[in-house]
Amino acid sequence: MRSLILSVSILAMAMSAASADPIADRKAAMKERGGLVGSLAPIAKGEQPFDSAKVAEVFAALKVNADAYNVDALFPAGSETGDTTASPKIWEDMAGFKAAVDKYKAEVTAADAAKPADLDAFRAEFGKVTANCGSCHEVFRVKKG
Ligand code: HEC
Repeated sequence: MRSLILSVSILAMAMSAASADPIADRKAAMKERGGLVGSLAPIAKGEQPFDSAKVAEVFAALKVNADAYNVDALFPAGSETGDTTASPKIWEDMAGFKAAVDKYKAEVTAADAAKPADLDAFRAEFGKVTANCGSCHEVFRVKKG
């Protein structure tokens, strides 16, 4: 898990500078998010026992990932087209997109601070965080066949 945190911090540093390839960077950030959430799914589903240390580490890594997600650097004008599923709505409603990003960041920060001590507390935080994935994708992502 230490290597996971390290790779997350390296990604965070790479993303704080203006992106040379914003589409690749924002997809990499999302892929990492998907991997982190996926690593907790078996606990949420009751397939693995609750593990407070693992939950705390993954929530901390999600917070590093969320904090590093810089909308201005990742969604510059001109990055609407290319190998991306980002919806044009992001650029049409940048304030709305930033509000969705901020809501996600706030909920990840709260989940990280909560340090859930049992399965029910974990599920409550995990549910709030992951609800953002679908609700943002619904509005700000296009499905490509
Ligand atoms: C505020 C909006 C927002 C939130 C919240 C959000 N996403 Fe995304 N996600 C996007 C956008 C926009 C894209 C498309 C990026 C692109 O293709 O340029 C995306 C793409 C993805 C992808 C595909 C990446 C790829 O390689 O093409 C995955 C996986 C993903 N998100 C997972 C998640 C998970 C898991 C969560 C919740 C923990 C989450 N996302 C939360 C906006 C969001």
